[in-house]
Amino acid sequence: MNRTKINELSKKINETVVIKCWISICRNQGKMIFLDFRDASGIVQGVILSDSAALEVGRSLRTEWVVEVTGKVNERPERNKKNDVQNGDIELEVLDVQILNKAETLPFPIDGDTRSVDENIRLKYRYLDLRNDRMQKNIRNRSMVQKFLRDYLYNENFIEIETPLLSAPTPEGSRSFVVPSRIWKGDFYSLPQSPQQYKQLLMVGGFEKYFQFAKCMRDEDTRGDRQPEFTQLDMEMSFTSEEGIMQLNEKMLIDLVSVNYPQKKIQQVPFPRMSYAEAMEKYGNDRPDIRNDKNDPNLLAFLWVIDFPMFEKTGEDNVDNTGEWTFTHNPFSKPKDQFMEDFMNMKNIAGILTTQYDITLNGFEIGGGSIRNYESATLKKTFEIMDYDEDRIQVNFGHMLKAFDFGAPPHGGIAWGFDRLMMLLENEPNIREVIPFAKTGEGKDLMMNAPCDISSAQKSELGIKIV
Ligand code: AMO
Repeated sequence: MNRTKINELSKKINETVVIKCWISICRNQGKMIFLDFRDASGIVQGVILSDSAALEVGRSLRTEWVVEVTGKVNERPERNKKNDVQNGDIELEVLDVQILNKAETLPFPIDGDTRSVDENIRLKYRYLDLRNDRMQKNIRNRSMVQKFLRDYLYNENFIEIETPLLSAPTPEGSRSFVVPSRIWKGDFYSLPQSPQQYKQLLMVGGFEKYFQFAKCMRDEDTRGDRQPEFTQLDMEMSFTSEEGIMQLNEKMLIDLVSVNYPQKKIQQVPFPRMSYAEAMEKYGNDRPDIRNDKNDPNLLAFLWVIDFPMFEKTGEDNVDNTGEWTFTHNPFSKPKDQFMEDFMNMKNIAGILTTQYDITLNGFEIGGGSIRNYESATLKKTFEIMDYDEDRIQVNFGHMLKAFDFGAPPHGGIAWGFDRLMMLLENEPNIREVIPFAKTGEGKDLMMNAPCDISSAQKSELGIKIV
């Protein structure tokens, strides 16, 4: 007999069916055994009656065992119907049970709110944590939103293009993870902090509208809204403007919420805009939480922050510079038109504003982008202002400058922090709750045990000695 999914059972009243599932609850009441069965589609209550041939095997069953159950779908008497639970109007009368696999007692209960369980244990046994209802919902909704955004962008004539993970260092203001090369001993690949350079080169390559759900790697200290490895919804467009990009993204966010989270309301449409200077003055940070009611879990207050300074004085935590000035967001951003003259003359550097726009939500930066400096002479000026010498410019950015000399179109883009957006849409306190296999606050994968030592054979093959 074909397998029936649990969410299809209510259409099969009085029929005999086979389900394949886990046992969520097992209550042996002596004469009868009540069981809750769970598969990816839902949950149903089953009962083994006192005269059932399945009674003996039923007595041996335990929670989280995997079983194949043959049973008859019975409508519950009116007084026993539960309207607020899935399949509350039916019950599966168990006729036969085949045990497909047994389970040890789990290291923690998965039926309640697992957020109260020690997170190290949850992350070590993440595959068990993922069986929890809330985690199932978060990961399924993540997939639903990803599909929505993919469809949306395909409809807008974007194409999805993958870019390399083994690459050269990209300056995104953070440290890069590196991968040693075996063939080129002593040389290293860098994992991308974002696909920034590749997506711009795709514009030079003539694609005009690109997007990707991109894995980004940044070697920085983790926080609740940061992971060393995270996902961006990354976009780039040619022949566009700040306004064009902001409007497309704003509409996409509004539609995303209205289709997928109809219970939520957006505080203000069109999204308000605030200059960096105003945000710093009024709120002391550049991602202000402007919600009218911070206790309303369904309120989404989007805000564009604009008019960022292009450069800031070098601070100790800027890892990517040598000079007095460094970029605030992205070295490839273009200054606003009215500051181009100062920029080209390297004057009033602190006052130069960039085309950078950040999108914030309820006090979190969920995305950012800019119009790019697409001419080599102007891009080079950014590096000169940061006091990079010609050698460094050529080694790090020679390929970009060269590419821009072959007819690069004007272009710009944006990237969303997809995990952060999902965290906020799902009302979760940190991004680990919406990432299936998250790392700890210290950047460890406790399930796979990474990072970890490698064999001496592998080290010598790579020409690596640990000091
Ligand atoms: P940016 O560095 O601002 O821009 O990154 C874009 C968005 O990615 C999210 N984000 C993170 N999320 C989780 N963990 C992290 N460690 C982390 N770091 C950043 C944030 C942020 O807004 N290439 C440019 C985009 C562009 O200009 O098009 C970039 O990466 O939500």
